[in-house]
Amino acid sequence: MGNFHVELKKIVDDSYNIETGCDLWDMLKADLKNGILGKSKKIALITDSTVMELYGKCAEEAIKKAGLDVNTYVFPAGEKSKTRATKEMLEDAMLADGFKRDCGVVALGGGVVTDLAGFLAGTYCRGVPYISYATTVLAAADAAVGGKTAVDTPLATNLIGLFYQPKKVYIDVATWKTLPARQVSSGLAETIKHGCLGDKELFEYLEANMEKIRALDPDACKYISEANVKVKYNVVMNDEREESGYREVLNLGHTVGRAAETLSNYTLTHGEAVSIGLMAQAYLAEKMGFMNNTEIKRLEDLLLGAGLPVRLPGSISRDELLEKLYTDKKVRSGDLRFVLQKGIGNVATFEGGSYALKVSKQQAAEILKLI
Ligand SMILES: NC(=O)c1ccc[n+]([C@@H]2O[C@H](COP(=O)([O-])OP(=O)(O)OC[C@H]3O[C@@H](n4cnc5c(N)ncnc54)[C@H](O)[C@@H]3O)[C@@H](O)[C@H]2O)c1
Repeated sequence: MGNFHVELKKIVDDSYNIETGCDLWDMLKADLKNGILGKSKKIALITDSTVMELYGKCAEEAIKKAGLDVNTYVFPAGEKSKTRATKEMLEDAMLADGFKRDCGVVALGGGVVTDLAGFLAGTYCRGVPYISYATTVLAAADAAVGGKTAVDTPLATNLIGLFYQPKKVYIDVATWKTLPARQVSSGLAETIKHGCLGDKELFEYLEANMEKIRALDPDACKYISEANVKVKYNVVMNDEREESGYREVLNLGHTVGRAAETLSNYTLTHGEAVSIGLMAQAYLAEKMGFMNNTEIKRLEDLLLGAGLPVRLPGSISRDELLEKLYTDKKVRSGDLRFVLQKGIGNVATFEGGSYALKVSKQQAAEILKLI
């Protein structure tokens, strides 16, 4: 018998920039020309059918003007496409086109595209570099920043994936003008969540400027995008891989939110469901003495002002919702756990430094009566 010890300690620098602005195509061109995706001359542009129609040409031109070859791969828009099957279809097409280890990937679109293309980049030829050009409010606030990539499975969303950081993220707020108003509101739910959990100033800015934001005033959109990134990265930089438990705070509002989203058969958007979930955690926080009535009213007004619901639709049964809560990923040893707001701009901490409170079935049932 012989034993060979493989000494393989790693120091990894996955740092990158997130650029926020309007019409960032020239910057994309310049970055590609300067080698942001390495020495490769071959770029796979991955996008969905809707975004292709709207912005595909802008991206293709930027890549070509940078002196690189581009092949564009398009899949049907929507969450239903975020599957292993779509990933495989794209990979096979890239392989057939001769894409090798030295290629790069540009993900252009919302969270579905950045999650799927990021995951593909992370496994294609054991990993090729990629950048994300985010075109939705939700991708800007959440999906495109943080380095989580994944696809859905029939059992649950985002089950198969990787932590894989992009080389750069572009948040082009000018692309928001073509989003349906409902999608804008949905993305704002995650922005409000960030204000609630880590940035009182952002919360107050949202209170004072919601009309401007919903009218897509560029300066207001840039402000909230930059604030979102700061809150999210303050968390991610402390707990990139969900090891210390701190990253759980980003789940504020998501315990009830995710369950309501599933039970609505996705007739509620993710943001709408999170909005209802934010109210649920706020009522629980009030019961535990972490929030007062005035703060709850401010949260409710802000969500309503963003065009979001604050009560469960009549079609969702509270009994079914209560059972569904037990499929939440924060459940431990059969116990429900909730992240709770502490005032505005902070979260509560619990025994042993945990960021989630163990909640009994009865406590949860009482909270569900309030939403
Ligand atoms: N990785 C993460 O950390 C993370 C975090 C939150 C959400 N997500 C994922 O993000 C996804 C949701 O993101 P999303 O809401 O951006 O979904 P999406 O990518 O499906 O975009 C929503 C719709 O808007 C269209 N669209 C995109 N940009 C547009 C534009 N500028 N103008 C008009 N239409 C446009 C898309 O084609 C799609 O039909 C989910 O799959 C979710 O799991 C991931």
